[in-house]
Amino acid sequence: MKGKFITFEGIDGSGKTTIAKEVFTRLKNSGRDVILTLEPTQTWLGDAVKRSYDEEVSPFTELFLFLGDRATHTQKIKKWLEQGKIVLCDRYCDSTYAYQGAALEEKLREFRMDAMEWMKYISKPFITKPDLTILLVIESKIALQRLSNRKKRTKFENMGFLKKVEENYLKLAKEERFVKIDAKKSIKEIVDEAVNYIEELVKSS
Ligand code: ADP
Ligand code: TYD
Repeated sequence: MKGKFITFEGIDGSGKTTIAKEVFTRLKNSGRDVILTLEPTQTWLGDAVKRSYDEEVSPFTELFLFLGDRATHTQKIKKWLEQGKIVLCDRYCDSTYAYQGAALEEKLREFRMDAMEWMKYISKPFITKPDLTILLVIESKIALQRLSNRKKRTKFENMGFLKKVEENYLKLAKEERFVKIDAKKSIKEIVDEAVNYIEELVKSS
């Protein structure tokens, strides 16, 4: 039996965590065998990742920490999928392509390398491709307003950078596994839409 792997993506403040939790509760209440997980993970590897963006480290160190956390997380995800579960993941590979893609774009251009394509290429052996990726689309200005009373802020949460990240997400969303949802809709509307997409996916197999 093979489960389904669904990822939630979007810039900080787009509402991923809120939506992923609500979708999890809905699916669970309707009797589905579902798991909710997230990245950075709640393990020592995830702690190392979080530490890297609170301190001054090379953007390459940061990239490889995100990837290191993901490689071990992917082993767990694969096991859950083998058990036939629906796995919901709040951020996964596309977060790296979009965020570290934005952070390293210029540096890699010096070497005639496309940052996002390179990251996709090196990730291939240790990730599992999502069956569905739900992208919450929102302007960075509105997303940042939503975060204005959050106590702990990350260095990624600035308008210029998040604009670039959003552009990257929209490029990635050309791939077939993506659906885009307008994150300005109400939480209920977004959850309804997301659950419909997931039910469609589960029924189609
Ligand atoms: P993310 O995980 O993408 O950073 P969160 O889920 O933490 O975003 O949401 C950030 C803030 O925006 C929270 O205060 C949350 O209650 C609020 N929020 C989330 N979704 C919506 C929505 N659709 N409409 C209005 N506010 C929202
Ligand atoms: P998260 O805790 O999900 O933040 P938020 O709830 O605000 O969306 O993620 C932490 C930060 O790490 C967030 O700013 C996005 C960033 N990030 C990357 O830059 N690359 C990655 O691969 C991942 C998983 C997260």
